[in-house]
Formats: sequence, C-alpha cells, structure tokens
Amino acid sequence: MIFRSAREKPQPEQSGGVAAGGTGVPRHVAVIMDGNGRWAKARGLPRVAGHRQGAEAARKVLRAAGEAGVECLTLYAFSSENWRRPEDEINDLMGLLRFYIASELDSLHREGISIRVIGDHKAFQPDVARMIDKAILRTASNRRMILAIALNYGARGEIVNAARLLAARAAAGEIEPGEIDEAAFDAALDTAGLPPLDLVIRTSGERRLSNFLLWQAAYAELLFVDTLWPDFDGDSLRAALADYAGRERRFGGR
Ligand code: IPE
Ligand code: IPE
Ligand code: MG
Repeated sequence: MIFRSAREKPQPEQSGGVAAGGTGVPRHVAVIMDGNGRWAKARGLPRVAGHRQGAEAARKVLRAAGEAGVECLTLYAFSSENWRRPEDEINDLMGLLRFYIASELDSLHREGISIRVIGDHKAFQPDVARMIDKAILRTASNRRMILAIALNYGARGEIVNAARLLAARAAAGEIEPGEIDEAAFDAALDTAGLPPLDLVIRTSGERRLSNFLLWQAAYAELLFVDTLWPDFDGDSLRAALADYAGRERRFGGR
C-alpha cells in the first residue's frame, strides 16, 4: 500500500472536508507540470532526462495527494499544442508514457486508483492508445482516488467538442436548445463526473494556463510556484495544500 487516504478516517478538525477558518482539503487538484526542459538544461542533460525525472515527480505527488485526502488529481502531461515540438521529443514522451503505464498500472490498480483521460489519446501511437484504453478499463471501478491524465488535451478544443455534441443532440431532436445550461455543458466536457476543480498548480514560474481547464478553472484557486516540475515532491504538494487551506473562496458572494 503506497498511501493511506486521510479521507478514509474523518479528522475531528474537518467537517465535510472543510477545516475551521480555511478551505480544507481540495477535492480536485490539477497540475500544469512545467519546467522539465529547463531542469535538464540546467544540468547539461538532454530534455528527455527532465521528462523522466518529471515522471518520478508525478509518482510522488500522486502519493502525497492520496495521503492528504485529495479525491482527484489531474495531471497535464501533453497538450494539443505540444505536437509543435520536434518529433524526437514527442517520441521520447510517448516512450515514457508507455513505460510509466507498464510499470505503474498494477500498483495503481492495487491502490484503488481509477485512471481517467481528458483529451484525445486516440491520436497517439496505436499501441500507446491501446495501453491507455486498457488501463482505463481495468481501473474503472476503483473508488479510492481518480488520476485524470490530460493527454493531447486543449481546453478550447474540449469546449468546442462539447458544443458540437450538444448541437448534434439538439439537431437530432433529443434536447431543446433552451435546455442547454451550465450543468448540461459540464456533462458534455471531458471532465464530466470529476469533482469540481478546486486548485490549479503550475510549476516553473510561468504564469499562464496554456489552454488547460479553462471552463473548469472559472472559480478554482490558482497557485504558481517557481519550482521546476522535476524538483516538485510530496513536501511541495503539502505546501501547496497548506496555501490553499489558508485561502478564502467567495464565489462572488461576500
Ligand atoms: C513540461 O515541461 C512537460 C511537457 C510539456 C510535456 P517542458 O518540456 O515544457 O519544460 P520547459 O518548459 O521547456 O522547461
Ligand atoms: C503546458 O506546458 C503543457 C504541459 C505541461 C503538458 P507548455 O510548456 O507546453 O506550455 P507553454 O508553451 O510554455 O505555454
Ligand atoms: Mg514548458
């Protein structure tokens, strides 16, 4: 067992997951894992070394998130704009994904982690796409925690797809255009069924969303840290959760 979920044992200071005077443990944390290339460059290493170390960071952060009682961790692993990178870097990333799934799937499954993908992984190399499909299927009924991986994901494309889906349903007479509300739109997004997004963390000092979860982040808390992703670890995640816990969310109220 790699972690014991804090959420399984209700903490006396938490009522409904919210600590007095703070925001409590976020149900859904999403991470823009940025800075792998700069991490490698600073060490005179090839970029792939940064991506490899980045995969280690993802493993540590998943464990720490589970221990803290986070219900869903979404990791931005490959954006729909990352196809602009040189082919050899894309191949390296696919290779790492293949390796990560092959080596981690058993333990993720044992830990009760359900794997979800947002984005369109069908565009990946066929063997990688098949591996991902199998991983999703095998872990579908796990209930302890959700690991959502953003693969070939872009928020604008996701929103356009949702609009297209709802338009097709309306054209087919299944729904009235007037019935399309925020809940219906939410349900047509790739993130349908995931808990509402509470916290977005971006590493490496960049302060932008880079086409990540634009709809879902409407009222999420944003945290930008200078740490390069390969250096991010369990303590960094705990520090991020502590920062979140000290924030006051108003959702437009007072
Ligand atoms: C993030 O690190 C990983 C992916 C986008 C796949 P980068 O590769 O963007 O690293 P930097 O931003 O060049 O340092
Ligand atoms: C965002 O990082 C995508 C991922 C972390 C997968 P990028 O490095 O691609 O973002 P930009 O290009 O700096 O905005
Ligand atoms: Mg980057």
